Amino acid sequence: MEQCRHVAIIMDGNGRWAKAQGKPRSAGHLAGSENVRTIAIAASELGIEYLTLYAFSTENWKRSKDEVGYLMKLPAVFFDKYMKELIERGFRIRIIGELDALPADTRAVMEKAERDSAMNTKLSLNIAMNYGSQREIALAASAFAKDVLAGKAAPDIEPEDFEKYLMTNEFPPVDLLIRTSGEQRISNYLLWQIAYAELEFVPEAWPEFTPEVLKRCLDEYYHRDRRFGGVKP
Ligand code: FPP
Repeated sequence: MEQCRHVAIIMDGNGRWAKAQGKPRSAGHLAGSENVRTIAIAASELGIEYLTLYAFSTENWKRSKDEVGYLMKLPAVFFDKYMKELIERGFRIRIIGELDALPADTRAVMEKAERDSAMNTKLSLNIAMNYGSQREIALAASAFAKDVLAGKAAPDIEPEDFEKYLMTNEFPPVDLLIRTSGEQRISNYLLWQIAYAELEFVPEAWPEFTPEVLKRCLDEYYHRDRRFGGVKP
C-alpha cells in the first residue's frame, strides 16, 4: 500500500456532542477547533503531508445567525492562540473556498495565516471555508471556458488539465476521506478529488476524534487493497 499522503476530514457532530453534555452548540464548535490543532499534530507525526478539513460549507449559511457568526469568529480565536506554534511546527496553512463572501475580518485573518506560513513544508493544513465542491467544479469550468475563448487553452481537455482549475490544484489527490459522527454522506466535499480515495465513517463526534482514532483509520487504510480500477498482479 502506498503512503497515505493526503487525508480529508468532514468534521461532523460538534452540535450533537455539545447537546449530549448539556452545552450550547457553540461549545461543540470551540472544542472542535481545539481538536484541529491536536489532529494536525497527530497527522504530521503519522507522516501525512496534506490534511484538508471541512470547516464551513456553502450550505452552512442556512444555520442560525448566531451560529454562523460564531463559526466566522473561530478562525481568529484559533489563529491568535496557535499560529505561532503551528509555524514552529512547520505547518503551512492554506484555505480553499470562496473567501470573498466571508466577513472581511474573517477573510483577513485566514489570508494572513496563509501568508505567514507560506514558507513551511512539513504539513499542509488546508481549511475549507465557504467551500462547496459543485461550486468549485462549476467555477473551474467557467475559468476553463474563458481560457478557451481567450485562446489560452485548447477545447479538448484531459482530467489532468482540468484539475489545474480546481482550488486544490497544488494538492495531490485525497487518499483517505474520514467523516466523523456516524453519518455516511459526502455532503458536497471534494467530489473530484476523492475519485479513488478510501472512505471511512467513524462513530466518534469530531471533538472526541482523538489521535488514536486517526491512527485506527490509518491502520484500516493500510490494510485495504487499493487497485485504482486495475487488477492485482
Ligand atoms: C459540523 O458539526 C461542524 C461544522 C459545521 C463546523 C466545523 C468547524 C470546526 C470544527 C471548527 C473549525 C476550526 C477552525 C480553526 C476553522 P455540526 O455542527 O453539523 O454537528 P451536528 O451534526 O451534531 O449538529
